[in-house]
Amino acid sequence: MRRHVNGLCLFILLLLLVGCTTPESESVSPPISSNNLETLPSVEEWMESAVARDTSTKPIVLGFSQLGRESAWRLANSTSIRTAAAESGISLVIKNAEQSQTKQFEAVRSFIRQKVDVIAIAPVVESGWDSILQEAKDAGIPVIIVDRSVDVQDTSLFVTTIGSDFYEEGVKAGKYIQDRMRNHPGTIRIAELQGTSGSTPSIQRGEGFRSIFDTRTDIIFSQSAPADFTEANGKQVMKGFLQVPEEERPQVLFAHNDEMAFGAIQAIEEAGLKPGEDIIIVSVDGSRKALEILASGKINAVVECNPLLGPQLMQATKEIIAGRTLPKRMVPPEDIFTQESAKREMYNRRF
Ligand code: AHR
Repeated sequence: MRRHVNGLCLFILLLLLVGCTTPESESVSPPISSNNLETLPSVEEWMESAVARDTSTKPIVLGFSQLGRESAWRLANSTSIRTAAAESGISLVIKNAEQSQTKQFEAVRSFIRQKVDVIAIAPVVESGWDSILQEAKDAGIPVIIVDRSVDVQDTSLFVTTIGSDFYEEGVKAGKYIQDRMRNHPGTIRIAELQGTSGSTPSIQRGEGFRSIFDTRTDIIFSQSAPADFTEANGKQVMKGFLQVPEEERPQVLFAHNDEMAFGAIQAIEEAGLKPGEDIIIVSVDGSRKALEILASGKINAVVECNPLLGPQLMQATKEIIAGRTLPKRMVPPEDIFTQESAKREMYNRRF
């Protein structure tokens, strides 16, 4: 009987522990392992591991506002952050804003209410962050900016930014086109599929790319429009770009990410043209699918943008809690893939 009562108490305790996760959280990674409800340990195992844990060291709680799920890059970024949190014993509360800055503000406020130790934000757009970051600062919670940047007056509102050099990515794409088209006679018309308006990668990739052609009067940016980093919009916008007489059609396409290039390829083929030949295509990210298409010749070059920022984010979180000073900006090394290197690298890609 006593055994049964003990078992019942343990079961109730387990239910309470499981029920402790806040209902508004998209997900919470428990600090001791990456278990989910399907793989929860038995009550006895749970209690054993709870006893074995050093209860004097409270796990660090990191609230992360992810901006959306628009691309393979984004999904790989979320997975990298979840995995790294589970591996480094950090309790992660992750909320997905589905491209809405307002939802990101709500997420940050809920992290403040939950009194998390550190807040990380992948900001959908650059502007408008001053007040919400001030709220986090007033609550004494350090903020790490991940992937994209924020454009704020007071840079003490965040500790560090971990993410790519998007301007340099644009420069790499521009240099590739400059080289590729060096023997092309006459005017060169370039079309550009931009990412989300107001987002750092869209602004900076565009600026870096154009900087290569500043002094070139033979280069015309004939068409340029946002397609929100998605395949569907990339296809639709590219369809529009192709509704012009042949002599006005672009000879080059710079797509600010892989997904928009995939959509554009469909539009180009549906118009009876050959992607990679009739229109030279450069994209950014470097997913496995993009490298396969690059190797097949329908894309001509892909600039790498690294989404696997989880380990760096967890390291930075721990350093902040340990009271160490971090550099204001941390940039992962990145490359450019050509058709030759894609054939070698495509099987090694992790997203
Ligand atoms: O901010 C990084 C960009 O966002 C990636 O290039 C793109 O694919 C993503 O959606």
